[in-house]
Amino acid sequence: MPDTAANPSHDTDLFEPVQVGPYRLANRIVMSAMTRNHSPDEIPGRLNAEYYAQRATAGLIIAESTAISEQGLGWRNSPGIYSAAQIEGWRGVTAAVHRAGGRIFLQLWHCGRGSHYRARPGNQLPVAPSALQSPGHIVTPNGREQCSMPRALDLAEIPGVIGQFRQAAANALAAGFDGVEIHAANGYLLDQFLQDATNHRADRYGGSIENRCRLLWEVAEAVTGVWGASRVGVHISPANVHHGISDREPDRLFGAVAEGLNRFGLAYLNVVEGATDPVDRELPFDWDRLRRLYRGTYIANNKFDLARAKEARRRNHADLISFGRLFIANPDLVERFRLGGPLNELNRAKISSPDHTGYTDYPFLSAR
Ligand SMILES: Cc1cc2nc3c(=O)[nH]c(=O)nc-3n(C[C@H](O)[C@H](O)[C@H](O)COP(=O)(O)O)c2cc1C
Repeated sequence: MPDTAANPSHDTDLFEPVQVGPYRLANRIVMSAMTRNHSPDEIPGRLNAEYYAQRATAGLIIAESTAISEQGLGWRNSPGIYSAAQIEGWRGVTAAVHRAGGRIFLQLWHCGRGSHYRARPGNQLPVAPSALQSPGHIVTPNGREQCSMPRALDLAEIPGVIGQFRQAAANALAAGFDGVEIHAANGYLLDQFLQDATNHRADRYGGSIENRCRLLWEVAEAVTGVWGASRVGVHISPANVHHGISDREPDRLFGAVAEGLNRFGLAYLNVVEGATDPVDRELPFDWDRLRRLYRGTYIANNKFDLARAKEARRRNHADLISFGRLFIANPDLVERFRLGGPLNELNRAKISSPDHTGYTDYPFLSAR
């Protein structure tokens, strides 16, 4: 149970060990999940292992969104966890991170409508709660294209989706991860079920908040059934309009999500606090209320720097802080923060380069 009182000494404890589930993490600095499209044929390999091992001084690494099935794959060269070759590839990644002294969770991802049939095995249509097209764009063999119109999932197909999450969780266990994070954020399938702009269903998975949360509860049951709750986290983004997602009552919806998740006793709730893309508008949301409603370990994410992270700890707004873009450019982010060292600039043009440039070639402070 986290200590929720403000404490002025907390700003120094970012660099101190913290218990999360069964793990004593080295610090409160988490590397956020980030798709990098560096897994040819959706199979992670040695380059991915090197990239994550370089960042193993994070208290916890959350590996990038990883497709739970062919149906859940958003686009090519982002990894999956549904084939023997993918499990073997991930084994190399987890072993490298463990050799470097780190801890690594896998983010379990179903893209839902956030895809295009041309980017998918067999050109199958993406699936979603409702046949509503995402305004988002992805890279297909034809270049950058708007996501295609999805097919609404039949009620009879939903147990199959839950089964995909269960199997992917078991595969992640076999691949040597320390835990998994259920991706219910950023406008992908589980988020599409939660929020009313994307869920127009009239069955038991649509309509009321209770119904829209149902798939998340069932997936959480399935995944915690494999891992035990203390090694499972959940990722939500109540105010991120990524992929055209929104809800008329976000405080009420995500308050219900936080309260519903309390009963599981999860490793953590990881919250994207706001819009991640600088061009997206910031929607109003009461983050402190969400923090209070959730009774387990709370990880805050989005546009944090060291000063904001210390402030969040001082106010006890979060137990841990997760960093995305700063970790792309700074493999030794923890050390740089600790020493107050300079930060490398993110090379945006190289975020999805097919080779090691902009991936494993960012310099360490010790190399200066
Ligand atoms: C290149 C890139 C890829 C991302 N991929 C994912 C992803 O796979 N899963 C996810 O939940 N969030 C993803 N995000 C969002 C980040 O995890 C994070 O929430 C966001 O960048 C805000 O944190 P930051 O301001 O510290 O970067 C991605 C962000 C970036 C920049």
